Amino acid sequence: MDVKKRIEALEQELREALEKVNNQTELQDVKSQFIGKKAEISTMMKHMKDLPNEEKPAFGQAVNKGKQKFHALVEEKREALKAEALKEKLEKEKIDVTLDAPDFSTGSTHIMNQIVEEIEDLFIGMGYAIKEGPEIETDEMNFEKLNLPKDHPARDMQDTFYITEDTLLRTHTSPVQVRTMLEYGGKKPVKIICPGKVYRRDDDDATHSHQFMQIEGLVVDEKTTMSDLKGTLLTLSRAMFGEDREIRLRPSYFPFTEPSVEVDVTCAACKGKGCNICKQTGYIEILGAGMVNNKVLASAGYDPEVYQGFAFGLGIERIAMLKYGIEDIRHFYTNDLRFNKQFK
Ligand code: PHE
Repeated sequence: MDVKKRIEALEQELREALEKVNNQTELQDVKSQFIGKKAEISTMMKHMKDLPNEEKPAFGQAVNKGKQKFHALVEEKREALKAEALKEKLEKEKIDVTLDAPDFSTGSTHIMNQIVEEIEDLFIGMGYAIKEGPEIETDEMNFEKLNLPKDHPARDMQDTFYITEDTLLRTHTSPVQVRTMLEYGGKKPVKIICPGKVYRRDDDDATHSHQFMQIEGLVVDEKTTMSDLKGTLLTLSRAMFGEDREIRLRPSYFPFTEPSVEVDVTCAACKGKGCNICKQTGYIEILGAGMVNNKVLASAGYDPEVYQGFAFGLGIERIAMLKYGIEDIRHFYTNDLRFNKQFK
C-alpha cells in the first residue's frame, strides 16, 4: 500500500474530525486518536523494517512529514478555539457606555458663600485685596482701637459675647481694618475687603441671628473722599441688585467713622415708588459706612494729616434676603436641603 496515499486519507479524516470539534476536550480526543501513541501514523514506523532498504528513507520522510502536518492542524484548531472563546467572552462582558449613569447627587456652594464670592470677585476686579481676621478677638481690636472705649454708650449697639474681660467673639468685621492698618505700618495705602463670621447676643428670630456674616471694606490713601465711597457703594449695589438701582446716603452714627452714613438702595419690588416691602419709603437699608474717623487712623498708625479713608460694612444675610426674597434668616443655618438646593 502506498504510504503517501494512506497518510493523505488519514489527513482528510483528521480534517473532517476537526471540523466537528467544539471545545478543547473534544480537541484532545481527536488529537490522541490521530497522533497519540496508538494512532495509526504513530505505529506506521514499525513497518519500516519490512521494507527494502532503498524505500526506507522515502517512507520515513513521508511518515514524519505527515506527523508534522497533523500536529500543525491540531494546533491551528486549538488557536481558533481560543480566539473564538475570547470573542465570546468579550461579547458577553461588553459594557454599554451609552447607558445613563446613576444619578449621584452632588453638593453645591452654599448661598452665603456664593454671595461672598460674588462680592470678592467684584472688588478684586477693582484692585482690592482680601483680608481675614480671628473670630475670637481682643476687646482692644474689636472696640478700643475703633474709638469705642470701655464705657462708651455705643457699645450697647453690639451686645457682646465675652470670653474673658479682654477677649470676646468679634461683633463685627471692623477689627480687621485695624489689624490690616497696623500690619501695613502706617505707610502704604490700604484697599481691602474682609469677609467673615461675627457674633452678637441677640435672640434668634426671623431677622436676628446670634451668628451672621459681614463683609467689611476699607480704603486708606492720601486723597480719599466721600464721593469715592459713594461711587464704590453704587457699583456694589448695582452689581448685587441690578443696574437700574440708585442709592441714597442718610446721616448716621458710628464711633469709627466721621461722618457716618446709612446706605439705602431703591426697592426692587416697587422700583422706588413705595410698597409694603420698603414700608412705602421706596428705599431699603443695606449697609453702614463712612469716612474713617481720625482717631481710628491715628490709633492704627496712620497720620490723619496725610491719609484719609472710607469704610463700609454690610450683612451678607441681609443682602441675600433682599436679593432672593428670603423671609427668615434662620434658613441660612438650618441646612434644610429644600432651601439649599434652590441656589444650586
Ligand atoms: N461695623 C459696623 C456694624 O457692624 C458697620 C460699619 C462698618 C459701619 C464700617 C461703618 C463703617 O454695624
